[in-house]
Amino acid sequence: MNYLALVAVLFIILWTLNYFLGRKKLFMNPTKHLYISDVCKARDILSSSNLDSRVRSNQNLRLTFGISNPFTNSHSSYHCDFRKLIVKSIDLNDEGWDRIKNIALKAVNNYSNLEKGGIVEIVPWVQQITLNVVLCGYLGMDVNVDKVIKVAPGIINDLWYRSKGLNRVMMENNEKFISIMETKSKLQNLFRNVASDAGETHNVIKKISEIARKHFPTEFSSVTTNNSLADELETPLNILIPAYETMWRVVLYAILEIKVRPLLNKDYGITELDLKEIDNAVKTFLKKPNHSTLKKDSFILWCIIQETLRLYPPTRNIHRVDDKNNTVTIEVEKIHRDPENWGEDATFFKPKRFLSNKMNKAHIPFSHGKLKCVAADKFAPTFSAILISAILDRVDDVILGQKTKESLSLKANLPFENNRYAFDNIEVTLIKKSRKKENLL
Ligand code: HEM
Repeated sequence: MNYLALVAVLFIILWTLNYFLGRKKLFMNPTKHLYISDVCKARDILSSSNLDSRVRSNQNLRLTFGISNPFTNSHSSYHCDFRKLIVKSIDLNDEGWDRIKNIALKAVNNYSNLEKGGIVEIVPWVQQITLNVVLCGYLGMDVNVDKVIKVAPGIINDLWYRSKGLNRVMMENNEKFISIMETKSKLQNLFRNVASDAGETHNVIKKISEIARKHFPTEFSSVTTNNSLADELETPLNILIPAYETMWRVVLYAILEIKVRPLLNKDYGITELDLKEIDNAVKTFLKKPNHSTLKKDSFILWCIIQETLRLYPPTRNIHRVDDKNNTVTIEVEKIHRDPENWGEDATFFKPKRFLSNKMNKAHIPFSHGKLKCVAADKFAPTFSAILISAILDRVDDVILGQKTKESLSLKANLPFENNRYAFDNIEVTLIKKSRKKENLL
């Protein structure tokens, strides 16, 4: 009898242990991926989520690009100083904006092939101009950038693509993993070399390195050798990826909607986009290219940027890992294109929907809450307005060859496809502004 009772007690203990350990295991191994496309829920999650929940969702980024910044590193005082530093670096006066404008106009001249027929591949063309202006105009790297501008955009694209598949299975596939790490090193070295050649003034990279050394002294001590965290903390990619990767996409889609869409859908765009009005706004803006001109005197340009960010948000989804270890994806693009939020014409490019200047709660291209983009209010719109204006100021028309027209017509739905490969290998001919006027005379 005693023996049976003992077995029964043991059985109960084992069953109870198994039950609770099993549950615990369930919580430790996330199985859920939640997708949020409701505006209110999205805003609630974004405003209540903390740095750690973002960092945990971005470890692929850390591994692929070797970056250690507020997207991938949850050290709170490093985050705080990093944020303060960037806020300071983007607070430009008129002279600073004028300098960026001049660099942008020069970049358009250099990369548009205008004197030799104007044939360019549209994506690399926009990427090279943007990268040049981010590197020289914003980050203050004024020497030897040409050598990185031609190759870096392609390598970054390649790494983005491969980062998506970088899961555990892939890490076990040693060959593929090693190949990604080699590409990453190549990219890191490219930028490390230009950063070390850069001038002393205006050098944002140098200042980022200083705060990294302040918050992670042991990583940089002389006894620590071969330290990958130190490399990650000092790479120029820490700021280049957030700034350049978002910006070129805004410029690309604004130019596609203004210059290319009217060639594809003859009955669409013309009524909404007044090209003369845009031309005037560009001229006025370039005379004094700052945020106040953009909002007051060239308002249609500001509307174009807001509408581009709505229809083609560079950050299509924002990810978090919640307390229960679930991955939560805020579907920014879906929210931005939902007729419930924007009306029946949600898929049309209609900048004038922003004329009232009343912001719609469903417009979250820069996220929301305390982790929102530091450049959202003034810097990003003004910087992209300079890039778009510099292009529109130099390029009169974009001409599509028959082959390009055919392949673009297939993509000419409303809206255009928003992914980094949608416009690969699309060649166009740019017509220089003054040349067309000369022909007309
Ligand atoms: C149109 C251009 C841009 C877009 C659409 C954009 C978008 C975003 C988004 C969605 C986030 C939040 C991501 C998340 O919470 O997971 C973010 C954060 C951030 N962005 Fe931007 N961004 C743009 C331009 C820039 C530029 C030009 C810079 C730097 C000069 C920049 C620096 C940052 C930084 C440092 C953060 C982290 C802020 C923090 O954690 O406190 N961004 N951006």
